[in-house]
Amino acid sequence: MSLNLDFTNMMAAALPAGQGITLSEWENAAAPFAAAHAAVHARTDDLGFLTLPNNTALLAQSEAVATWADGRFTDVLLLGIGGSALGPIALRTALCAPQWNALTAEQRGGKPRLHVLDNVDPASIAAVLARLSLANTLVLVVSKSGGTVETMAQYLIVREALALALGEAKAREHVVFVTDPAKGALRAIANAEGVRTVDIPANVGGRFSVLSPVGVLPAALLGIDVRALLAGAGHVTSEAANPSLGSNLPGAFAVLQWLADTRHGRHVQVLMPYADPLRDLALWFVQLWAESLGKIGPDGRSVGPTPLPALGATDQHSQVQLFMEGPRDKTVTFVAVRGRTQEGPIPARHADIPELGYLAGHTLGELLDIEQRATAGALAARGRLNATLTVDAVDAWHMGALMQTFALATAYAGALYGIDAFDQPGVELGKQFAYAMLGRAGSEAARAEWDALPHPDPRFQL
Ligand code: PA5
Repeated sequence: MSLNLDFTNMMAAALPAGQGITLSEWENAAAPFAAAHAAVHARTDDLGFLTLPNNTALLAQSEAVATWADGRFTDVLLLGIGGSALGPIALRTALCAPQWNALTAEQRGGKPRLHVLDNVDPASIAAVLARLSLANTLVLVVSKSGGTVETMAQYLIVREALALALGEAKAREHVVFVTDPAKGALRAIANAEGVRTVDIPANVGGRFSVLSPVGVLPAALLGIDVRALLAGAGHVTSEAANPSLGSNLPGAFAVLQWLADTRHGRHVQVLMPYADPLRDLALWFVQLWAESLGKIGPDGRSVGPTPLPALGATDQHSQVQLFMEGPRDKTVTFVAVRGRTQEGPIPARHADIPELGYLAGHTLGELLDIEQRATAGALAARGRLNATLTVDAVDAWHMGALMQTFALATAYAGALYGIDAFDQPGVELGKQFAYAMLGRAGSEAARAEWDALPHPDPRFQL
C-alpha cells in the first residue's frame, strides 16, 4: 500500500530551457515549508481534520447508524452541498462497483443505492422523489452549519414528502442529521423532535470533513471499508509529521504548486486522474483547493491558484490540446493507478488492419497507463509542468490516503500563501443578497446594498 509522487517534470532539469522549478527554488522552499508545517501542526486542536483518522468515538457513531440501517433501506438519499456532498460522491464513485445505483440488490450485496442531491434545481429533486420508494429510503441531511439555505430547502421538501407518505412519526425514523454537535437549526430540530443525529466535530469545516461522518456514514451504509479509509488517511497524517520537505509528500505537492503559481505563472492547476473511479475525486479536490486558497492575501492582493478537473484518457480528446499549446499557465497533476483489475487482453480481431492490429494482446489498463505516461512525457517535452501521483489501487485505503494528502497539502498551501485556508468570506455577500431577496430577517443591510447596485443597463442588453 503506497502513494508516490514523481515531480521530475515540474523541475527545470527535466524541461526545455527556461521552464520549470529550479533546484535552488526547491531547496530554498525548505525553510518556508518548515514554517508552514509548524504553523499547521501547531493547530491540531483547532484543525480537526488532522485527528479524524484516529477518532474512534466518531467512527463508532457512524458504524452504529450503519448497523441499525443495514437491511432496512434500499435507498439512501443524501441532501447536502459543497463539502457536505462532494466527498460522499467521490467515495461512492471510487469505492462502489461501477453503475452502483443500476445494480440489483443482490449485486450490491444488499447494500442501498446512494442518491445525492447537491443542488436546488427543482427538476432534479422532483425526479428523485418520483423514483424513490420513501418507505424504503433513509434520508441523510448533511450540513455542518445546520442552516445552509439549499440544504434546508431540500430538507423541508423531502421531510414533507416523507410525512405525507409515511406519517409524521414514521417519517422521523427515515431521517438522520449529520451536523455540528451543538449549533445550528438541524441540531435544534433534532433536540426538539428526537431525530437520529451524528456529529461533525466543531473543529472540522465542510471541505475538510470527508473523513468525518460526512463521508464515513454514507460510506459505511454502502458497505465501504471505512476502517481502511481512515487507516490510509492515518498513515499519511503520521508520515506528514516529518517537517522535511523531501520526506513530506503533501508538503511537496503544496510547495510545488505554490512555486509554480507564484514564481512561474502557473496559475491553473489541473488534477487529472487516469481512472474512471477517480473522476469525482478531481471535483472534490477542486472545491478543496479553490475555496481554501482563493483569498485576499496579507498584502491586500488576491491570491490563489485555479484548480481544474480533467480525466484521462477522455480529456486527451478535449483539454489536452490546451494544456500542450495554450498559455503556459498550468500545471497538470496526474493520478495513476498501478494495479488495475478486471483486465482481459484486447482481442486480436482485425489483426491485419494496422490501426487495430497493434492493440492485440495489450490490456485496456496498459493502454490507459501508457497514454498517461505518453501525455506526461509530451507535456514535459514542450515545457509544460506536470507531476504524477501513483497509487497501488483504487481502494478504501488509498482513497483515504489521497484525500488526506490533498487536505494536508491545502493546509500547508494556505500557510505558504499567508492566508486562512479554513474560512470562505468571499461567499458571504452573495448569500446575504439572496437572503435579502428571500426576505430573511436580519438581512436589511444587504437589501440596501443590493438595491443600490446599478440597474440592468439597456445599452448592454440584447
Ligand atoms: O467547505 C465549506 O465549508 C463549504 O463548502 C460547505 O461545505 C458548504 O457551504 C455547505 O455547508 P454546510 O455543511 O454548513 O451546509
